[in-house]
Amino acid sequence: SETGSFSIVLICASGDLAEKKSLFLALFHLYEKGLLPPTEVQIFGYARTEVSDDELRDQLREYLIPDEDDSPEQVEDVWDFLNLIKYISGSYDSEEGFRLLEKEISEHEYSKNSRGGSSRRLFYLELPPSVYPSVCKMIKACCMNKSNLGGWTRIVVEKPFGKDLESAEELSTQIGELFEEPQIYRIGHYLGKELVQKMLVLRFANQLFSSLWNRDNIDNVQIIFKEDFKVEVHGGYFDQYGIIRDIIQNHLLQVLCLVAMERPVSLNPEHIRDERVKVLESVVPISDDEVVLGQYEGYRDDPAVPDESNTPTFASVILRIHNERWEGVPFILRAGKALDSRKTEIRVQFKDVPDDIFKDVPHEILLIFPGQKHRRNGFRICLQPLETIYTKLVYKLGNLDMSTHQSEQELLYWRKEGVTIEDAYENLILDTIRGDQQQFIRRDELEASWKIFTPLLHRIDRGEFKPLPYEAYGYGPKEAFELLRKAGYAETPGFLVDDH
Ligand code: BG6
Repeated sequence: SETGSFSIVLICASGDLAEKKSLFLALFHLYEKGLLPPTEVQIFGYARTEVSDDELRDQLREYLIPDEDDSPEQVEDVWDFLNLIKYISGSYDSEEGFRLLEKEISEHEYSKNSRGGSSRRLFYLELPPSVYPSVCKMIKACCMNKSNLGGWTRIVVEKPFGKDLESAEELSTQIGELFEEPQIYRIGHYLGKELVQKMLVLRFANQLFSSLWNRDNIDNVQIIFKEDFKVEVHGGYFDQYGIIRDIIQNHLLQVLCLVAMERPVSLNPEHIRDERVKVLESVVPISDDEVVLGQYEGYRDDPAVPDESNTPTFASVILRIHNERWEGVPFILRAGKALDSRKTEIRVQFKDVPDDIFKDVPHEILLIFPGQKHRRNGFRICLQPLETIYTKLVYKLGNLDMSTHQSEQELLYWRKEGVTIEDAYENLILDTIRGDQQQFIRRDELEASWKIFTPLLHRIDRGEFKPLPYEAYGYGPKEAFELLRKAGYAETPGFLVDDH
């Protein structure tokens, strides 16, 4: 593996640096694991506000040592880590600050590289997209790795990558003029989540999954994201973006790609990205009657939200993939803020068993769901809060008759409390260091994902598509469940549609 000096530069929205706790926590965990050796690493924070190194370290220390009972060794570890952080203030569009940054990075490199070694520079941008191009220009002009002993300069950018196809393309072009695609790491942190990776193994290392995973067996697929809290006010960020741009166009589409993609030629990152892009390019235009939007009651009471806001905080959208494997199978993507619980899961529902001989669907159920035959098999793949896979199987209940019962069996359980955002960031930062772009969004992938949602988003922006009100901390608009049934989802009798 590479050695030599390593500079991590976090460029954040003004005043926000100490708020990037998950990022610092991820870096701290990597440090604790010995993956950021102090003999090589320095972490630079760059933002507009004037803060001293000590002030920043103090703010972060409170966060990294939340527990009074932490052992002296742990506390010492935190301090050693904090001592790697240096803060520089400067603007996003003038060379002055970036020259100062360059000077600090060079000094660090000189001190670590006196015995030779490459110079690695990782710039992590967490900024409003409008300043990405100017910051990239400044990095290119002032802060590139110039060592003749090798190394690299890499840029990590966080979403949002634009607001629609056109703005995303413009941004990609501007950044693309300054950096090559292998230098650009677009983070969609869902790709860094463990279970997303595990999906690849499940699907392609198990004949059980491989042989069932197609339109012959699967009736419908749901990808669900729920949060049990209201929108966090990021200076009105959410209101300008809405749930589709915030969650569905990126996180849920990435999950969809892993559920739907073909077997990649190999585990080479580009092969995997190629397959994700193919899925996105096979999605047909969204039909208006396959969309339900919602806005929780009270959303507009927030002072950062305009009184007339048309921004959805909930959306259910059916995507249809036009290819041999998935023709006719609806993929129902549903995301919402301020719902009854917090979870992200994939639900795969199989078709009815042919010619059901058991005829056990009770009369009352048939009155509500005419034509329902048997209870269906399914997989419920929970990404969070607990990574678990359940299978739905039907079995015989008692001795005296043939009455059957459906139950959910745990198929795999990783017993991992909360797949936290930190885990995802740790994975992703490590990949940027290793130069592995598999879990990052490629330019054509970004373009394809915006293509899917841009027409719908424009209609919402123009106020032509209105969100339905829903009660905060409930299940969302009932119309979303009607849409689900219309798409062919069959409820398990006796269970709430949302729970089973
Ligand atoms: C972010 C969204 O990308 O993902 C937030 O901007 C959302 O609105 C968050 O809360 C959810 O991430 P996770 O990892 O907690 O599911």
